[in-house]
Amino acid sequence: MVKGKVEQILITKDEIATRVAELGRKITEDYRGRDLLIVGILKGAIVFYSDLCRSIDLPVKMDFMSVSSYGAGTVSSGIVKINKDLDHSCEGVDVLIVEDIIDSGLTLQYLKEYLISRQVRSLKVCCLLDKPERRKCDLVPDYCGFQIPDAFVVGYGLDYAEYFRNLPDIGILNPDA
Ligand code: PRP
Ligand code: MN
Ligand code: MG
Repeated sequence: MVKGKVEQILITKDEIATRVAELGRKITEDYRGRDLLIVGILKGAIVFYSDLCRSIDLPVKMDFMSVSSYGAGTVSSGIVKINKDLDHSCEGVDVLIVEDIIDSGLTLQYLKEYLISRQVRSLKVCCLLDKPERRKCDLVPDYCGFQIPDAFVVGYGLDYAEYFRNLPDIGILNPDA
């Protein structure tokens, strides 16, 4: 069994559901009359992605990218390796990137530059959680569910050593417990 214990629930599944529905309504209003390619970043985003997509009332295409931070070491280099690219062409398309959490912001900064270089029509970012204290670049999400303090959070897609993604609530983990 993996080490680690959820010590406190930070955001309940009901609070998440309420906020996801609000985000979906706002995105629906903002993109009214347009199609949208929604790009989920594997794997953390998948739970948020599947709920958010179902609260957006627009013609939507779904796609996914899988990325990993490039190089050894614990400090993120900001260089991202693309393990799985988009299946759809994104040229001339309105694209919304969906992420579970923004920490340093380096993953998203790289992805934004990459997708802009592929001639998207527009590009916005929707994250469920944002840790602004941890930012190492000036990335600001266009849509954000919750700003949270710098704690180790798991659940609702977020993992510790790949576990806990299936918890319905978001909790704070004590990795030593
Ligand atoms: C986490 C999270 C974001 C990224 C944020 O993914 O899901 O994708 O890190 O970090 P950053 O803002 O410092 O770049 P992780 O690499 O843990 O992969 P996972 O989504 O498969 O858990
Ligand atoms: Mn991720
Ligand atoms: Mg992770």
